Amino acid sequence: MQNRNNYGILGVGSCLPEKVFTNHDWEKLVDTTDEWITKRTGISERRILEKEQPTHELGIKAAKMALEDAGLTAEDLDLIIVATETPDYLSPSMSCLIQKGIGAKKAAAFDLNAACSGFIYSMTVAGQFIKTGVYKYVLVIGCEGLSKVMDWKDRNTCVLFGDGAGAAVLGPVEEGYGVLNTYLGAAGDLGHNLTIPCCFITEEDIAKRPNENKRVLWMDGSEVFKFAVKIMEQCTRQVLEEIGMSLDDIKLIVPHQANIRILESATKRLGVENEKVFSNLHKYGNISSASIPVALNETYREGKIAKGDNLVFVGFGGGLTWGAAVVKWSK
Ligand code: ACO
Repeated sequence: MQNRNNYGILGVGSCLPEKVFTNHDWEKLVDTTDEWITKRTGISERRILEKEQPTHELGIKAAKMALEDAGLTAEDLDLIIVATETPDYLSPSMSCLIQKGIGAKKAAAFDLNAACSGFIYSMTVAGQFIKTGVYKYVLVIGCEGLSKVMDWKDRNTCVLFGDGAGAAVLGPVEEGYGVLNTYLGAAGDLGHNLTIPCCFITEEDIAKRPNENKRVLWMDGSEVFKFAVKIMEQCTRQVLEEIGMSLDDIKLIVPHQANIRILESATKRLGVENEKVFSNLHKYGNISSASIPVALNETYREGKIAKGDNLVFVGFGGGLTWGAAVVKWSK
């Protein structure tokens, strides 16, 4: 029997731009090598939007795929939450652009920015509406166009990122299934380690950006790296411990895809085998809030997860923010 106290994922979808941008393409633009990028990050290629292509187009396609997978139509949706740190417009929001694109006339819509943790934040918010009976079906999308905010001349950051969107339709599921727990956190005092200026920029932020375009992403990679390794372990343990579960109960961890060395290090700290930690980083790079739903859609379509499997999603990123979720797969 479906129960609104139990909410879960009813359908998933994703969309990546067609244009493949390889490490060799970066070799032609900045002082880097395929070997450096592969060894230090695990990334071989990423997908990049064309200049004139808006990011929300990816969100529309991912949403349509997730709705079809859920057996629902856009008109069934009560709410759309888009996790993004790269909206096409500040207004209208990405969620309103996607609402229009799919024709979800009855749905409310808003964006949520928790950087790479955005999908887990959005799932958690969606769950509150479903559990309280306010809404039944909520579409959550991680939708990012990092290529539009990165500094194409800064080798420290440009090689890391890609564009993409991943979507999930959330709604009531059978008792005992679905999202079993979520855990969120933030440390605004560390936010200066990863910034993307928008309507305001400080002299300090201007000075950090050596090239002419000042409203681009800047990151202290090694500070974020140290934070990511620790938080990925802590978050995963916490979200399980709170509900009396252990890593032995988990079939697959689907983490935010930032750097293969972060994933390897966290895998070691957690003491789990490599096969338990999903990675598709080599193909897409870091796509921020889209990375977990894109990875989830891929593992689901490849038939790697079955009904009853326990999964952990874990993310970390700008803000700085972090989040994790335990999901008993219900499809
Ligand atoms: N090619 C060649 N050399 C490079 C490149 C490049 N693409 N990038 C940096 N280097 C150089 C640096 O200039 C430096 O040279 P120097 O020693 O002469 O100064 C050297 O390589 C080492 O640089 P480090 O920054 O120490 O390299 P590191 O091994 O730490 O790797 C990286 C950098 C990949 C950024 C890593 O720190 C990382 O992955 N950090 C975490 C990123 C992350 O998790 N982000 C998540 C959030 S993203 C979000 O929210 C949008």
